[in-house]
Parts: sequence; C-alpha cells; structure tokens
Amino acid sequence: VTNHPFAETLITWYKDHARDLPWRRTNDPYVIWLSEIILQQTRIAQGLPYFYTLTEAFPTVYDLAAADETTLFRHWQGLGYYSRARNLHKTAKHVVDMLDGKFPETYSELIKLPGVGPYTAAAIASFAFGEASPVVDGNVYRILARYFGIETDILHASARKEFTALAQELIPNSDPARFNQAIMEFGSLQCSPSPDCGSCPLISSCFAYREERVNQLPVKSKA
Ligand code: ADE
Repeated sequence: VTNHPFAETLITWYKDHARDLPWRRTNDPYVIWLSEIILQQTRIAQGLPYFYTLTEAFPTVYDLAAADETTLFRHWQGLGYYSRARNLHKTAKHVVDMLDGKFPETYSELIKLPGVGPYTAAAIASFAFGEASPVVDGNVYRILARYFGIETDILHASARKEFTALAQELIPNSDPARFNQAIMEFGSLQCSPSPDCGSCPLISSCFAYREERVNQLPVKSKA
C-alpha cells in the first residue's frame, strides 16, 4: 500500500527535523498520558522541566494515585490550569482502583477514562500501542485546512469529525505513531500560525499557498 503523498512528504521531513523529546523515547502509556496532559496549553520549553519533575516524583501510575494533592499541586506550581492536575490525580486513581493499574490499550477504551478526550486517547493509543488513530489538535486543523483547502470553521461542532475523518484517511497503518509525531512537529516547527512557506516541503501541492490564503486558513469564527 502506498501512502498518500502528503504522508510521505511529512514523514521524510520529520526524519530530518524531529526533536529528541523524552516522551518520544517511551512506550509507557502512563508516561505518554502524563506528557500529553502537561503539554496541553503549554509550550514544550515550559513543559519539559515539569515532565522531568513529575515523572521523577511519580514514576508509575501507582505513585501518582497514592500522592496527596498538596504534593502534586506543589510540583505543578507555575504550570497553571490546576484543573489539569486535579483531573490527573482523579484519572490515576481510576486506573489503579478500577483497572488494576493498567491503561486501556485501544482508543475506544481510553476515551472512556475521566479527563481523556479524543486527542489524548489517540495520542496514547498510537504512541503506546501502535494503533492507527490520528491525533487531531489545533496544529492538525491548521495543517489540513491549509493543505487541503478545508473551509470548515474549526470552532464549529462538526469540525472535529470532518478533520478526524480526513486524518484517518492519511495516517499510514505502518508506524502510525511516527505520522502522528510528524504532524505535531510539522505544525509546531513548519506550518506554524505565521509560517515560512519558502522552506516548506509541501509548498508545491498546498491549497492555501497556491490560492494565497495561508493567513485565512484555518477558518476560526468566534474568539
Ligand atoms: N505537544 C503535545 N504533544 C506533543 C508531542 N507528542 N510532541 C510534541 N509536541 C507535543
């Protein structure tokens, strides 16, 4: 099976541009889950020290479940959005108490966990278990809207379904985790909100570049 040229180019780009990030060196669903919660609304440079602190303080889901919230909040101090820390603790206790400390291994089971939404479920399913479930976050909306010329308002309720269906068509069955890491990295380093299209490997087939609409896509109505 040949991959879509979009996926081929993305993965080739990623081989040259991937940053060496600690959560890319593990298959442990707990560590991957923890990293993805830390990275919500948080830049990598800001999240990294917290990743090291928290994985050292709580190396397993049992350690996190057994922690008292004061200790967890102390380690979380400075990251903000404390509801994340509270949900983290709640989910850890759920996994220990209800699931014998084992994270579910599929997207459809992971999504049932408290505090685990579609993005995080796809990240854990692919990075830890090799499932071809596409991650869809703001980076992915931006890249797909520009490259494929998708005009759907990303704040509209139907957007997630539409972009997820497209990403599901694009994600290869062989090493889907690499595709997911690649598209995240591409959104962060190349197809950023103000991109340098001159250095983009997808320039020759990008809708937004061709139509001079890079700054108008993705469409985001409110806010
Ligand atoms: N931001 C959120 N998740 C990430 C990941 N897995 N790699 C890089 N940046 C991210």
